[in-house]
Amino acid sequence: MTNLTNCIKPIIIEGVGCYLPGRVVTNDDLAKIVDTSDEWIRTRTGIGERHLAAEDEACSDLAVLAARQALEDAGLEPSDIDLLIVATVTPDHITPSAAVLIQAKLGLCSVPSFDVNAACSGFLYALEATRSLLRDERYRHALVIGSEKLSSIVNWEDRTTCVLFGDGAGAFVLSNSASDLPVITDGLAGADGSAANLLYVPAGGSVQPASKETVEGHLHTVTMNGRELFKAAVRHMAEATEELLKRNGLTTEDIAWFVPHQANIRIVQALAQQLNVPMERFVCNIEHTGNTSAASIPIAFAQAKAEGRFQKGDRIVLVAFGAGLTWAATLVEW
Ligand code: ACO
Repeated sequence: MTNLTNCIKPIIIEGVGCYLPGRVVTNDDLAKIVDTSDEWIRTRTGIGERHLAAEDEACSDLAVLAARQALEDAGLEPSDIDLLIVATVTPDHITPSAAVLIQAKLGLCSVPSFDVNAACSGFLYALEATRSLLRDERYRHALVIGSEKLSSIVNWEDRTTCVLFGDGAGAFVLSNSASDLPVITDGLAGADGSAANLLYVPAGGSVQPASKETVEGHLHTVTMNGRELFKAAVRHMAEATEELLKRNGLTTEDIAWFVPHQANIRIVQALAQQLNVPMERFVCNIEHTGNTSAASIPIAFAQAKAEGRFQKGDRIVLVAFGAGLTWAATLVEW
């Protein structure tokens, strides 16, 4: 975990948006293809349904729809954006990045555009990168997107993983050009690559390129040690939150809302218990989305904003954990 104190000026959240694909798949639908039940999935994860993208809908398509909503919310045009960062583990292709495809589809100017791969922590990692880059006066408005088509890397014959994930996208438009609320005031990020084997896709990279055997062995899909991830998720999200609060001279009592990564409601409940915060102050939409990895926090945030949950002056903590291992936390003042 980085121990740098916050030396970056606040950046403004000008607009937010999200997109969930139209096809809703319930737990009962999944029980028709694998040996599972609505009762098992709900009690172990809190998930009731998830949205899945159409076959011809790629990560970049989901991202574009979320981004257009965020631009509209900000009252900006694509031509106002001068930096694009996309957090994803399911880009349209290994190369080029999802970001350049999104840049073209949105009709942005020839601005720097790149992907961040930090799994479920990716969106908060992208916010961290943006906070630093927006110190550079060449950039004024940044578009940051978390977009995932996780259905494309899930083994639909494996009940231990396929019930967990969903597709979707969320986006923020950020700016350094004014001094108003809401703002991101601080953030931190950390990683522990020695535990990379807890969640990974074995094949398709340079270690094990695609072959007939890798396809037949489902090696292009997510492999996961759920129990170990569960424990690590609670520990790292609690530690990241505590460090962020401590270095800002705050306690959990000063925080109106927590927006955690939506992986499993029991992870969020354990986090709430560890932080001694009632669940009512946690934004949770997992029942209707499943785990959408890098898209989960911006989707939950955009929905909470649309529901009018945030009040002026509220302090909000965003906190994530994901494959890598990676973790990150962000402090927002609404
Ligand atoms: N339906 C029915 N039974 C199932 C299913 C299913 N979908 N999946 C597993 N089971 C069975 C198992 O086979 C096992 O049976 P057994 O006892 O006969 O061997 C039994 O249920 C218990 O399995 P566990 O893996 O011990 O169940 P657990 O209570 O640990 O819950 C879960 C599993 C939900 C995956 C949990 O460990 C978890 O959520 N971990 C976090 C994983 C995660 O969120 N990963 C996403 C990426 S990382 C992140 O986003 C934080």
